[in-house]
Formats: sequence, structure tokens, C-alpha cells
Amino acid sequence: MDGWASSKKVKLDGVNEKCPQSNTYQHIYVQDYVDHEGSTSIIFSLPEKVGALAEALKVFETNNVNLHHIESRPSLEDKDCYEFFVSCDNVRGGLYEAIDILKGRTKNLQVLSRNPENKKDEVPWFPRKIRDLDRFANQILSYGSELDADHPGFKDPVYRTRRKEFADIAFNYKHGEPIPRVQYTDEEVKTWGTIFQELTKLYPTHACREFNHVFPLLIDNCGFRENNIPQLQDISDFLKDCTGFQLRPVAGLLSSRDFLAGLAFRVFHSTQYIRHGSKPMYTPEPDVCHEVLGHVPLFADPSFAQFSQEIGLASLGAPDEYIQKLATLYWFTVEFGLCRQEGHLKAYGAGLLSSFGELQYALTDKPEVRPFDPQKTSTQEYPITSFQPVYFVADSFDDAKEKLKAYSLTIPRPFSVRYNAYTQSVEVINNKEQIINLTRTIKGDLSLLEDALQKVNRL
Ligand SMILES: [Fe+2]
Repeated sequence: MDGWASSKKVKLDGVNEKCPQSNTYQHIYVQDYVDHEGSTSIIFSLPEKVGALAEALKVFETNNVNLHHIESRPSLEDKDCYEFFVSCDNVRGGLYEAIDILKGRTKNLQVLSRNPENKKDEVPWFPRKIRDLDRFANQILSYGSELDADHPGFKDPVYRTRRKEFADIAFNYKHGEPIPRVQYTDEEVKTWGTIFQELTKLYPTHACREFNHVFPLLIDNCGFRENNIPQLQDISDFLKDCTGFQLRPVAGLLSSRDFLAGLAFRVFHSTQYIRHGSKPMYTPEPDVCHEVLGHVPLFADPSFAQFSQEIGLASLGAPDEYIQKLATLYWFTVEFGLCRQEGHLKAYGAGLLSSFGELQYALTDKPEVRPFDPQKTSTQEYPITSFQPVYFVADSFDDAKEKLKAYSLTIPRPFSVRYNAYTQSVEVINNKEQIINLTRTIKGDLSLLEDALQKVNRL
């Protein structure tokens, strides 16, 4: 567990939890964490001068701060400077003194911290490069093979060993590696087949248009069929071609903050194991059926992919209370979202599209439906042990995305973020020079647009 411990449960990513009344499954999955160790990252710039870095590092040494990691690159903000990224701890208590001294000797100093007692002006740590997501692998809240006593597989030693194999794959996975292929057993394929057969009967009438547009492509390209559990790597390759989204295996529960941060990079953390065969229509946590049938199809849709990434980008460096609100927005959209198409309600949330019972219930007149409005939706309470009493309806993914973008402007952060798809990194926009650079990029895009328009007009 690497010093991480769970505190309160946050209902986030469609985990299926047994509903005592109806014996169907419900959804929770990501828990919040308290980082007892605390870790702090500091970014600062120094002029290109011999000895400048050694002088700055001396400040850490004299204040008894342990450095874990240091990286450098040419500064994006000031071409005569280098930017340094330093990861350190505050075990011996001199960190804040060191930061105060460094503020006077460096430029553009930013402090990113996982320490629960963040100082007011500190921004919680967030990944800047896609490779930084590797750090989440050993920050899970529970290892996937640790089952609760009421888990259907708790008393099955073969299942528990199997779960450990899957957890090990994810635990050892590093960005850029192929996701190991799994030889699923006959029993596992049978479980998948039961679920596949039931759900695919409902999709034509209950799922949104975009889902039904993509699903046949998954059958053709990724081996979606009753007698085959698709491989995560095949799906990831397909998604990359469609929208740049990719899958990453996850060993256990991630914090809400870490899970949402993955979406900022168009990375979806996915489980690879399957539920216990004794109860094919119930699982107490997300499994490959939920991910692959519920989530995957819409990540191949450009508008939905953009919407999902916007939630992720909004979460980077956001205060804890806003992480909770974004997790709630995720819940009512990516997990339980409904939309209206040709005058009819359709499901696009993965928690619905992977649940035979709730998919049918959600489209009846029993639950209340309200328009998606991030300010209101983000504070809506929801049950985790029964079907949802309230669903939120989006007009379209594009409309939901624009509303979410407007909402994210209300999140108090001292900077803006922009995803750079060329470097697969997040740019923090917080000074004039970066804004000028961004303006140049937009100008370039605008002249391309103008040129294309003129050529189209000549046709
Ligand atoms: Fe989910």
C-alpha cells in the first residue's frame, strides 16, 4: 500500500455493489486517500549559468530536505532558463524554509503537494506527463486480490490466485509497454458470454446512437463476441486510432484525484479480471465486463472523448472539495448519464450500459430525470446501494462539454491547463509569455482554417 490509506469512500467509477433489496448491482469504485507520508514536487526556473543548480540544491541540503527525484528541461516560459522539477519530502521539517529561500533565488516557483496539510497557496500535485501516471500504480488503495469476506470469490482459492495474477500485471505495468494478453479460462469466458448475451439484446433500444454506431466496429476490430473476452491491448489500439484514448491496467482502487487525472491524458484505468462465475449478474467491484461493455464504446466517440478529458483537465490541481464535485459530475455522466435523442431517453453511462437491471429501469418513468447542469448536478447526493432515483439528461455530448468547460472556469486555480497532444503532457498556463505562445499557436490554426475555407469555397 506504500503508505496510502483509504479514508472516506467516494462513489466514482461504476463499481458494482450489491443492492440488498433487489439483488442487482450498483456502482462505486474509487476511494479518497490520506497521504500520511506526504510528498512535494517543486518546479522552478534558473538562468543558464554554471553552478546555478548546485546553488539551488544546496538550499535543500542545508534545510535537511531529502530529494527523491530531479528532472530538467529547457524552460517553456523563458528561453534563457532551464526548468527544474524536484520531488522531495518534509520528514525532517525544513521544507517550507527551503521554499521561502528558493522563492528569492529562482523564477516561476510552483509547489505541488500531496501533503494533506497543504498550505493555503499550495496546489495539490498532479501529473504533468503521461508517464507520470506510472506513479499511481503503487498508490492504489487496495490490491485487487484482497477480497472482502462477502465477496462471491472469497472462499475460492483458485479465484483468489487468479485475481492476484491480474493484480500483478497491472502493478508491474509501465506506460508504453503492451498490456499483457490474458488467456481467459473456459469458466471466465462463460461468465462473459452470459452477460454479453443479455446486454446486447438491450443495446439497440436502450443505448444512445453513438454507442450503437461504435459497437459493431468493436465486434469487427477487437473480438467483441459471446465466446471471447476482448484483450485490453487490442481495445486500446482501436481507441487510439479513433480518439487517442488508451487503456491502462489498474491493480486496485485509485483515489478520485488520480483516477480523474488519467482522463486528462485520455487514459482510462481499466480492470482486466472478471467477476466470480457463481454470480454472473453481480460483482462488488468493476470488472472487465463493466469496463469493456460499459465504458469502451463511447471512448471511441470524439465528442464523448473530449467531454471525458475535460473532466480530467478540470481536476488537475483542483482543491479537494472540487475533486468531490467533479467525481459527482463523472458519476452522473460517464457512469449514469442519459441523453435525449429523437425525443426518446437513451443511456450513455457505463454503469447503466453494463447493468441489465438498471439499464431497463432508468428508461422507465420511475426515476426522476433532470437536465444536466454542472452547478446543480455536482452537488446532487446519490445512493450507492440502490438504483438511482435521479438521472441527469444531456442534450448532446458537445453541449455537456461546453457546460462542463464553463463550470471548470469556476474552480479556483491560479493557472489554466492545456493538453499538448504532441508531447502528451499538460501545460500549465500562468504567465504572459505562455499566453503569447498560445496565441501564436491559435493564430496558426486560424490561418489554416481560413485557407481551408477559401479552398472549400472555390469548389
Ligand atoms: Fe465505470
